[in-house]
Amino acid sequence: MTKKPVIAIDGFSSTGKSSISKIIAKNLGFIHLDTGALYRGITYYALQNCLDEEQTIDIEKLITCLPHIQLEFQNVDGELELFLNGKNINKEIRFPQVSDNVSRVAKEAAVRNFLLQMQRDLAAKGGVIMDGRDIGTVVLPHADYKFFMTAGQEERAKRRFTELQTAGEKTDFETVKQNLLSRDKIDSEREISPLKQAEDAILIDNTNLTKEQTVQLILSYLKKF
Ligand code: DC
Repeated sequence: MTKKPVIAIDGFSSTGKSSISKIIAKNLGFIHLDTGALYRGITYYALQNCLDEEQTIDIEKLITCLPHIQLEFQNVDGELELFLNGKNINKEIRFPQVSDNVSRVAKEAAVRNFLLQMQRDLAAKGGVIMDGRDIGTVVLPHADYKFFMTAGQEERAKRRFTELQTAGEKTDFETVKQNLLSRDKIDSEREISPLKQAEDAILIDNTNLTKEQTVQLILSYLKKF
């Protein structure tokens, strides 16, 4: 039997990468892996275990603790949810404190190396759609399909704000927008595996597209499997 394809979807925050990847995975009968969740899982661990006196993350301490971190996706009612050392942390990794700190953690070489092989192993069997920032460039440079998603800053901030409001978070639009822009900046400018479009990735700008239209656009590039 030939191996099912691997699809890499990278792009900016709040372009809908994960929710769109999830729909496409369901449509194709593929597994969807949200690699941002792994960076969030490590950040959550650090916020619990590796704070310095100023209550900010002590990166050196975190690096020495990496061998104690076990991250695993488990199927919970048909959805893959993230477990940290046996505990389901799927909700916790979306907390604003995690969002505010994750880019700082994700720019560390030791953290990225720690997650690299895990991500490759997860994709090894094929039939996977993996979303993140460096999937097409570093993690799976030989992916069968690569997409790079973008949308206007204002539109992305609006989407994120609505998402947080729906989740009952108390926040204001400007704070949300600043967090988004600051994450984009750190993610794009970091030395190791920065967020950038792979040369062979298809650019998807969904500023003026609905989620469903974006799904259809991506599906139109895929062969029938
Ligand atoms: O997709 P997200 O917002 O959940 O990602 C959280 C952070 O993790 C984001 O700021 C960048 C980082 N990340 C990364 O550096 N590489 C990936 N493959 C996925 C996420």
